[in-house]
Amino acid sequence: MDAKECILRRRSCRRYEEKAIDRSLIRQIVELARFAPSWKNMQIVRYTVIDDAALKNDIAQTCVRGLSFNTKTITRGAALAVISYETGRSGRDTDGSLMAPDGEKWEMFDAGIAAQTFCLAAREHGIGTCIIGVMDEAAVAQKIGLPNTQKVACLVAMGYPEQWKEGPPRLGCDELLRFR
Ligand SMILES: Cc1cc2nc3c(=O)[nH]c(=O)nc-3n(C[C@H](O)[C@H](O)[C@H](O)COP(=O)(O)O)c2cc1C
Repeated sequence: MDAKECILRRRSCRRYEEKAIDRSLIRQIVELARFAPSWKNMQIVRYTVIDDAALKNDIAQTCVRGLSFNTKTITRGAALAVISYETGRSGRDTDGSLMAPDGEKWEMFDAGIAAQTFCLAAREHGIGTCIIGVMDEAAVAQKIGLPNTQKVACLVAMGYPEQWKEGPPRLGCDELLRFR
């Protein structure tokens, strides 16, 4: 699949087959995702993939701020990736000094790029994904025993899709683009 096809064919997937994803395939997805760009190549993003159904479903039940829509998506998925990042490094120089006044925004920026790269890599390997932003970061961190040097950026539900659906429409280029 070339880049254009992968970008166009990645759409959020919320219904999955009851089929496990091999850990070797998850490794291949992270093998690609690790090439995401990052602030000063600091590579602060980490991936915790939960393929234990009991833990995944516990997070689905208790860590989505009561949004049953997300509970269903996570429960249906074969695995759940927690995208997290090491704090206090992005936006800074290697000696820790701030290089940008709004330093903290760059760590979420890194995490966002990594999440999309992860989803595209999953698509390339035939795995559907759905980024989940409505969740309780602290509760997720506690459930997975995240080191306290990291924060949770988002969750990504994943699995073999029941079907590859069309996503919602997009704004046209004329609404998005201007030249000066
Ligand atoms: C930062 C972010 C947070 C999101 N949070 C959720 C979420 O909590 N639940 C959900 O079902 N989808 C969530 N989505 C998926 C969006 O709804 C979806 O990307 C958007 O509707 C466009 O559809 P597409 O991904 O199929 O192209 C999120 C996406 C992003 C980028």
